[in-house]
Amino acid sequence: MNHNPTELTELRDMRARAMAAGGQERVDAQHAKGKLTARERLAALLDEGTFQEIGALATHNISDFGMADKKYPGDGLVAGFGKIRGRKVAIYAQDFTVLGGSFSQVQSHKICRIMDVALDSGIPIIALIDSGGARIQEGVRSLAAYGELFTRNVLASGVVPQIAIILGPSAGGAVYSPALMDFVIMVRQISHMFITGPDVIKTVTGEDVTFRDLGGTLVHNAKSGVAHLLADSEQQAFLQVKQLLSYLPPNNAEDPRRVEPYDDPLRMDDALNYVVPSADTEPYDMRAVIDRIVDRDSFFEVQPYYARNAITGL
Ligand code: HXC
Repeated sequence: MNHNPTELTELRDMRARAMAAGGQERVDAQHAKGKLTARERLAALLDEGTFQEIGALATHNISDFGMADKKYPGDGLVAGFGKIRGRKVAIYAQDFTVLGGSFSQVQSHKICRIMDVALDSGIPIIALIDSGGARIQEGVRSLAAYGELFTRNVLASGVVPQIAIILGPSAGGAVYSPALMDFVIMVRQISHMFITGPDVIKTVTGEDVTFRDLGGTLVHNAKSGVAHLLADSEQQAFLQVKQLLSYLPPNNAEDPRRVEPYDDPLRMDDALNYVVPSADTEPYDMRAVIDRIVDRDSFFEVQPYYARNAITGL
């Protein structure tokens, strides 16, 4: 069969543009903020060579508000399937360099597709969020598309694990989906989750509030309880995901993997005799007790900052 050379050139061009994200200038700006691009993030989190992408060339068909000239293959979202330490996962990463990672109908179709497969096959869903929320230019179409995603978040709840890593703004509609998921990880300095930004709040209420005070890591790890884990860097967040997955079954039809403990099951620990003070008015750190009872180095704490009074350096 003969191929039309023009079509092949076009296909190659689209593939190259899909890899180029929002262009070098925006990629540089993303790096300057201390953030990785969507594809760099997937490369860092997934086992090498395991990523199978879907919808890499999908583009929107919106022409309002000058959008006909703003078509990026992939539409600001990289989605598909891969492996993390040998476990199959469904995964997507929003690309802030493309229209601020804003959520579109195309993004929704891609995410819903991998979520449907994850639900059918019982594998975890991982979301890498870096988004300004509903794509304003798509109007209610974007909002209806969010509805499709939220429905799946609810259907997946209790069926397969859902893990969200917030790696930039998670603004407007971008907050609801992670909030419906099982585990939310935020990264110092770069993660912010808020429904309405500081500018709108200033306009509507006259109140001055910073991104940090509105939806920073401190607010959601220590006060609202929306976030479960806090990482110092993107790389550390990915390590947390790997560790978290190691506690879960690889598939919802299987038992968790058995690991031979290197800690002697008959180990006695004299410190337990005094680690809890005899005076019941004296405070103590329960972590010191848990650490001595469970297998060594196996305690995976979630929400360590939640409701602590003295939080510094967040
Ligand atoms: C379309 C968007 C966008 C959005 C950002 N961009 N958010 N485009 N829809 N929601 C675009 C910007 O116009 C800009 O494009 C590029 O992405 C980068 O954005 P900047 O503002 O330059 O980046 P930064 O200064 O880092 O600020 C990031 C931000 C800010 C804090 C996320 O962009 C922001 O406040 N965006 C709007 C957030 C918001 O109000 N979302 C709510 C949408 S309504 P150019 O081409 O100019 O560089 C919603 C309702 C959901 O989500 C209801 C669900 C049921």
